Amino acid sequence: MTTTFIPSDRKIVLVAGASSGVGEATARHLAAAGHHAVLGARRADRLALLTKGLSAAGHSAEYAELDVTHPAGVHASTEAALACHRRIDVLVNNAGVMPLAPLAALRVAEWNL
Ligand SMILES: NC(=O)c1ccc[n+]([C@@H]2O[C@H](COP(=O)([O-])OP(=O)(O)OC[C@H]3O[C@@H](n4cnc5c(N)ncnc54)[C@H](OP(=O)(O)O)[C@@H]3O)[C@@H](O)[C@H]2O)c1
Repeated sequence: MTTTFIPSDRKIVLVAGASSGVGEATARHLAAAGHHAVLGARRADRLALLTKGLSAAGHSAEYAELDVTHPAGVHASTEAALACHRRIDVLVNNAGVMPLAPLAALRVAEWNL
């Protein structure tokens, strides 16, 4: 039997950009600490795997495909989470990309990604 620790101050946490990197690690950490993680990103297949793994470990998580460049989609996602949980306590606004290159390389097209 899996015993799940639920803290008395359990938060409903939305993590944007949860399919990899910092966002995934943040979602794993917060879910393992007993909070409910709502995972968002574009790669729904990765979110599904992550959510499945967290649930199998006895943690609380769900996911929704999310593209933060589409305001209507962001609005729909937050409204869905609010309708389900009646509150959002924490937003981890982590979605994004960070192309790294020396300034002198002048990869100007990447600056606007
Ligand atoms: N790693 C660093 O050293 C570092 C340093 C400073 C700042 N940051 C910032 O921290 C954040 C995470 O970085 P990371 O290294 O963890 O990068 P990462 O592994 O590439 O993760 C980026 C996350 O953002 C998501 N994402 C990208 N575009 C999105 C969009 N339009 N809508 C929704 N989700 C989107 C990606 O998921 P999908 O592709 O599935 O949508 C992915 O889950 C970035 O904003 C980055 O600029 C990172």
